[in-house]
Amino acid sequence: MIYLDNAATSWPKPESVYDAVAKVMRESGGNPGRSGHRLALNAAREIRGARDALASLFGIVDPDRIAFTLNATWAINIALKGCLKPGDHVICGSMEHNAVARPLHTLERRGFLVSRVPSSPSTGLDPDAVRAAIRPDTRLVVTCHASNVSGAISPISEIGALCRGRGIVFLVDAAQSAGSIPIDVEAMCIDMLAFPGHKGLLGPQGTGGLYVSPSVALSTVIEGGTGSESRSLEQPDRMPDRFESGTPNTPGIAGLGAAARFVLERGVEAIGQVEAGLCARLADGLSRVPGVTVYGPSPGSPRASVVTISIAGIDPADAAAILDDSFGIASRAGLHCAPDAHESLGTLETGALRLSPGAFTSDEEIDACVNAIRAMAAQT
Ligand code: ALA
Repeated sequence: MIYLDNAATSWPKPESVYDAVAKVMRESGGNPGRSGHRLALNAAREIRGARDALASLFGIVDPDRIAFTLNATWAINIALKGCLKPGDHVICGSMEHNAVARPLHTLERRGFLVSRVPSSPSTGLDPDAVRAAIRPDTRLVVTCHASNVSGAISPISEIGALCRGRGIVFLVDAAQSAGSIPIDVEAMCIDMLAFPGHKGLLGPQGTGGLYVSPSVALSTVIEGGTGSESRSLEQPDRMPDRFESGTPNTPGIAGLGAAARFVLERGVEAIGQVEAGLCARLADGLSRVPGVTVYGPSPGSPRASVVTISIAGIDPADAAAILDDSFGIASRAGLHCAPDAHESLGTLETGALRLSPGAFTSDEEIDACVNAIRAMAAQT
């Protein structure tokens, strides 16, 4: 299998991740933060280790400001629904994943006001366009750091500084950047960061998190047992308990901790450079194949690790099936849960084929993929 679907979920994982999950299940199987016996304390230690590693990765001063969630979607929902009050105005880009677009649509139906600012499929969300859309009642700006469809990277620091200067909360969806593109919440003026554990961070599925700056007060979407302040019916204010009700996914979080330590050791920048080289090789090779259209940033410009294409005369879903069946190559076709992004690319009706290299992809695998698509395109 040549795995080029890392934007959906990364695979394989570092050996230390598999080991951590199994070890925690065998040796630290207690309920963290609840009981006081050693299995529970070991479990709590694993979770603390994961929180610390993630805080180091994202420049977060207080690791307790990170709440673990099921995935980035869960984190985005907590952030949007906890932060906004009826009548608030929100700004988002036009390349958002449904993880952002659908909760915003729901909020819009409840009377919130949403402005969708056109994002470029090549360069992402333009800070000047955001500035122009700001109103006196704008409470929050949300954008993906990198598009999961075109790979465009938005200028997060500029948008963050703009929001900070106006007291607007800035929420970043780091689904396609965490682990592959450096993120520093302080330097980038990010108030809330939603991230998945299972993509660029190389952790298990069913893991993710939300960083909430001390300056943001969030109401809760889920309440319940936290192992703290148990006499009170009020959900605790303190982080991370406020957003971590119920027994956590300790094996998954331990795996995520191991993954974050792997990424820290290898370096986000170094991983990003490897992926950028693979994408450049892939985009360059494919752009020379007759009938292939490569979308997204122009050659030499920064892009997240996705290369999305169309092949003239072949439905993207058929192309993905042929790649899998005849060449052993995993890709993803369709709308990638991001219809707005496809509308921006002009591929809303047809969908497109996405190839996403990861930290463990080789040059030989990229070349094999280009050759497979050349062979496929030649048959139309
Ligand atoms: N959001 C993921 C993707 O782009 C699942 O494939």
